[in-house]
Amino acid sequence: MYCCRVYYSGLEEAVYRNISACKQLSHTLRTAYGPNGMNKMVINHLEKVFVTSDAATIIRELEVEHPAAQLLVQASEIQDQEVGDGTNFVIIFAGALLEASEDLLRMVAPVKKDLEKMALHVPKVPGLAQMLKEGARYYSGLEEAVYRNISACKQLSHTLRTAYGPNGMNKMVINHLEKVFVTSDAATIIRELEVEHPAAQLLVQASEIQDQEVGDGTNFVIIFAGALLEASEDLLRMGLTPSEIVDGYELALAKALEILPSLTCYEIKDVRDVKEVSNGIRTSISSKQYGNEDFLTDLIAGACTSIIPGKATSFNVDHVRVTKILGCGINSSKVIQGMVFKRGVEGDINKKLKAKIAVYTCAVDIMQTETKGTVLIKTAAELLDFSKGEESGLEGQIKAIADSGADVVVAGGKFGDMALHYLNKYGVMAVRLNSKWDLRRLSKTIGATALPRLTPPTKEELGYADSVAVDEVGDTSVVVFENEALESRIATVLIRGSSDNYMDDVERAIDDGINTFKGITRDGRFVPGGGACEVELARQVASYGDGLPGMDQYAVKRFATALEVFPKALAENTGLKANEILSKLYAAHEEGKKNFGFDIEGDSKSPMKDMLEAGVLDLYLTKMWGLKYATAAACTVLNVDQIIMAKRAGGPRAPAGHNSDDE
Ligand SMILES: Nc1ncnc2c1ncn2[C@@H]1O[C@H](COP(=O)(O)OP(=O)(O)OP(=O)(O)O)[C@@H](O)[C@H]1O
Ligand SMILES: [Mg+2]
Repeated sequence: MYCCRVYYSGLEEAVYRNISACKQLSHTLRTAYGPNGMNKMVINHLEKVFVTSDAATIIRELEVEHPAAQLLVQASEIQDQEVGDGTNFVIIFAGALLEASEDLLRMVAPVKKDLEKMALHVPKVPGLAQMLKEGARYYSGLEEAVYRNISACKQLSHTLRTAYGPNGMNKMVINHLEKVFVTSDAATIIRELEVEHPAAQLLVQASEIQDQEVGDGTNFVIIFAGALLEASEDLLRMGLTPSEIVDGYELALAKALEILPSLTCYEIKDVRDVKEVSNGIRTSISSKQYGNEDFLTDLIAGACTSIIPGKATSFNVDHVRVTKILGCGINSSKVIQGMVFKRGVEGDINKKLKAKIAVYTCAVDIMQTETKGTVLIKTAAELLDFSKGEESGLEGQIKAIADSGADVVVAGGKFGDMALHYLNKYGVMAVRLNSKWDLRRLSKTIGATALPRLTPPTKEELGYADSVAVDEVGDTSVVVFENEALESRIATVLIRGSSDNYMDDVERAIDDGINTFKGITRDGRFVPGGGACEVELARQVASYGDGLPGMDQYAVKRFATALEVFPKALAENTGLKANEILSKLYAAHEEGKKNFGFDIEGDSKSPMKDMLEAGVLDLYLTKMWGLKYATAAACTVLNVDQIIMAKRAGGPRAPAGHNSDDE
């Protein structure tokens, strides 16, 4: 009869069991109540991560399955619909009522027999994990959740620490499409790694925001957040609570940001001055391409300053393009004014000055009809007439384009032989661009409208370039579109190199340089690099911590210690004893030599020098945002006290096992 059903009845089996499930739920949510409530990290079945203390979100994503606990959840959902707030209140209070009723029942039991029939599975051992859908995982408390998250983040930051600075080692990352990356660029490494651990993902996100905001210092964010979390592990062991640590870190961050402007040692006033700009961007390049930095810096500074428009703040990073051509060596790289495309021309004409340009997204050929038609041809004369008719039709089209004033035709599709013949006849240059993206970019810069059919362009639809010409780089021919007008100026850095991987890495260094230039146009201030600014910050934040009363001082001082990770990482990656060098740096800073940092070429005898004199300068904005994002990420991780992971929804996935972050 009820062979597959489970049946529970009576006080012991039904009532107490339900009460206990509800109690569990309300206890879980109780820790999230109020401003100091801890966050929960809930990962739903679609693997979306929620880090929140909002009860409505937590219970929605938890997918509570226990029928009694669901009643509480429903009550709270109604509260959410009715007033939109106080959802946590409902669950906590209902749980508390039930808890009280347990005592009452014990006082008078057993009086009444209750009966409850359920077709649902009611778990035997009450506990939050059993209350959820099958397959959900649940970690709670310091040991299981907080330490576990910290350790995942530590792992990530230790991996990236060895890639920091000019002597940082490269990582070889092979992504899921089997593309190989050989780089020490943190942004690339973490993007291609596809980190899965939810806490480590928070660090990755912080670093991605840094990448969007300033485009450099992505490694800084991960390393510093990792160092903060590592320090907080000790603080937790000392007996501080996560929220005390978070408060302390926030205090320390505020102090650090207050000190940072006073460490400025160099400022760029004129963003059009190539020499000044070079001084500013050299460091961001030397940390990726050590040894080539002078050459690359000159290229980038030249390219950036040459295109800077009237108002300095409107520098657009897209206006400095990078094109890579295999062959020669890095020292044959150069800057070309204008847009460069890696292809030859189609027809016979190689150069046009003051060119009007028509852009088509279609092929330039005899028009194909959309539907197939049949033409009945009876005589040879009819056949000749037919093809002549098509030819003269095409000639007419091309003549109309030439008559509209166009000197150059750029098309996204192929040029037919007959069409090329007529283009040559009317003296029109023909360029084919395969990528839609290139076509769109070109149209934008030359001010043309891309036409979908071979119709003659109007005046407004024609673009303009001062010169369109074929050039040769090595044995690759390129087409260059050049414009003198400042607003539409584009510079292309042409990278030469012996392998694609190498050129990719040079491109990333150049990107860092271009982004630094963009940063300069917003704020030209610089702080000393090579760990000098971090040591000075650490020193001043620590002494600020000494003066604080109460528990805060421990976390503030640990924040200072965490900053030491940067000079240490630079020294370790060079193969020197980090602690020895750190103490020498501290000694120098005590004497007031604020700009002393780690000398990448130094040895254990003289491991430091004045960074301002050496020209190792870090952009102020990079440091400021880096500190902010890293601290925010670390605090978010610390505020989580429970991790609840739903079972993954079905569907194919990459085989497990490559993510050693967890389990
Ligand atoms: N020649 C040098 N001597 C000493 N330190 C240097 C030198 N060049 C760069 N550095 C230091 O290296 C650090 C930057 O390293 P790196 O560029 O690897 O990290 P990041 O900027 O945080 O991350 P990413 O560039 O990957 O986004 C800076 O602190 C900088 O001062
Ligand atoms: Mg960098």
